[in-house]
Amino acid sequence: MEISCTKEESKIFEKIGAVASEMRLSCFLIGGFVRDKLLERPTKDIDIVCTGDGIALAHAVAKAISPKLKVNFFKTFGTAQFRYHELDIEFVGARKESYSSHSRKPDVTEGTIEDDQKRRDLSINALAISLNKEDYGKLIDPFGGIEDLKNKIIRTPLEPGITFSDDPLRMMRAIRFATQLGFTITDEVFEAIRSHKERIRIISQERITDELNKIMLTPKPSVGFDLLYRSGLLKEFFPQLTDLVGVDYIEGKGHKDNFYHTLQVVDNVAAQSNDLWLRWAALLHDIGKPATKKFEEGHGWTFHGHEVVGERMTPKIFRQLKLPQHEKMKYVAKLVALHLRPISLTKEDITDSAMRRLLFDAGEDLEDLMILCESDITSKNKLKVKRYLENFELVKERLKIVEEKDKIRNWQPPITGEAIMELFGLPPSREVGTLKTAVREAILDGVIPNSYDAAYEFMMMQKANELGIRALK
Ligand code: CTP
Repeated sequence: MEISCTKEESKIFEKIGAVASEMRLSCFLIGGFVRDKLLERPTKDIDIVCTGDGIALAHAVAKAISPKLKVNFFKTFGTAQFRYHELDIEFVGARKESYSSHSRKPDVTEGTIEDDQKRRDLSINALAISLNKEDYGKLIDPFGGIEDLKNKIIRTPLEPGITFSDDPLRMMRAIRFATQLGFTITDEVFEAIRSHKERIRIISQERITDELNKIMLTPKPSVGFDLLYRSGLLKEFFPQLTDLVGVDYIEGKGHKDNFYHTLQVVDNVAAQSNDLWLRWAALLHDIGKPATKKFEEGHGWTFHGHEVVGERMTPKIFRQLKLPQHEKMKYVAKLVALHLRPISLTKEDITDSAMRRLLFDAGEDLEDLMILCESDITSKNKLKVKRYLENFELVKERLKIVEEKDKIRNWQPPITGEAIMELFGLPPSREVGTLKTAVREAILDGVIPNSYDAAYEFMMMQKANELGIRALK
C-alpha cells in the first residue's frame, strides 16, 4: 500500500530522515497521519516517533529548516511540536510504557519502534512508515493494521483488556473511530469495553466529552450512541440519556422507546445540519420525558410538560458534561423548550397571533427550531409521517406569510422602556414594565399594528383608562 503525499510533506519527511540519520536515530511516521493517508482522508497532524530523544530531534529539524522556527516542547512528556506551513508536526521518543492502575500517568522507558506500536490504542493507529535512508517509505505493520483497514475492523494491538486498562479513554476512541469510519468493533474488543466500562471514571469529563462531540459530528451519530449504550459506557457518565431507554406497557398500550426515537431525531438533524449545538438540542429534546411519564386511564401514555423539565435539566447536563455554560447552553435549552410549538401549529383554527408568538419566541433560531421539529416526526407508519410532514409544510408557509406581513422576528417592540419613562415622567418601576408588556402583547395578539404611532396611541389609551379608573375610585 502506497500513501500519496503533497510536495510539502515529502520535503519535510526527507529533511526529518536526513537530520535523524546525522544524529544516528531511526525515525518513523506513525498513528493518525498514516491511517488517514491510507484511507484518503484529509489530515494535517503529523506524528513522528524516533528511537532516542524526540525533543532533540525536533530542535535539530527545526534548526535545519530555519533558525527562527519556534519549537514547543514538554519535558515531562518527552514531546515537542512545531508548525511548518499548515502542517502540525509532533515528535516523541519511542516508548515502552506501563501504566499504574490508578491513573493515566505512565512509567516511561525508552523502547524500540515495535514497543511503541504495541502501546498504541488500535491496530489501525499503530501503523508506521520508515523515514530512514535504508528503507525509506517502508510500512511497518506488526499488528495487522492494514488488514483491519481493508476489512473495516476496530481491534487493539494487544489483548484489549490490557490496552483499555492502560488508558480507558481508548474505549471511547474505539467507539468514536467505529462511528467516524463506519468500521465494526470485534466481539472481543466490545466485550472488553463492557467489562472495563467502570474504568472510564478515571478519565476527565473534558476528554470524554471531546470524543462525544466527535461522535456527534459524524453523519450518523446514532451508531456511536447505540454502541455507547450497549457497552454500558453511556450510563457511566450520562445516565439521564439511558433513562430514556425502554418501553412500558399498561392495558396493552406502550409508548415509543424514547432513546431510539431520540437517536433517530439526531440522525435526521445531522442529515440537514452540521451544527454541533443543533445536534445537542436533538439529543436533549425529550430528556424530560422519564420524569413526566404518566399513564392516563382511557388516554394512554403522556409526558405533559416534558419540554419545560427538559429545558430545566439542560444547564445541569451541560455542567456535568463540561460543555460550554453560556450562549450554547442557552440556545440548546431554548430549542428544547420550544420543540413542540411548531407542531402544535399544525392543528386547524390556528390564529396569526399564535404564529406571531412563535416567531417572536424563536427569533433568530427559527430555522434551527424548524429543522429540529421536522426531524422529530418519526413513526413506523409511513403514511402518518407523510401527512405530518405535509401539515408541517403548511405551517412553514404560513409562518413565512405572517413574518413578511408583520416583521416579528428579531423584533423589538416600537416603544422602549426609556421612551415610556420619558413620556410619562416615570422613574424605573414596575409600571414601566407593565406598560411595555401591554404594548408588546397587543402587537403580538394583532390588536394593534406593529408601528410606533399605533403603539403610542394604544399606550395613551391605557394610561387614560388607568387614570379614569383611579378617578372613579
Ligand atoms: N493514541 C493512543 N491512545 C490514546 C490516544 C492516542 O494510543 N488514548 C495514539 C494513536 O496511535 C493515535 C496517536 O496516538 O493515532 C495520535 O493521537 P491523536 O492525535 O489523539 O489521534 P489521531 O489518531 O491522530 O486521530 P484524531 O485526530 O481523529 O483524534
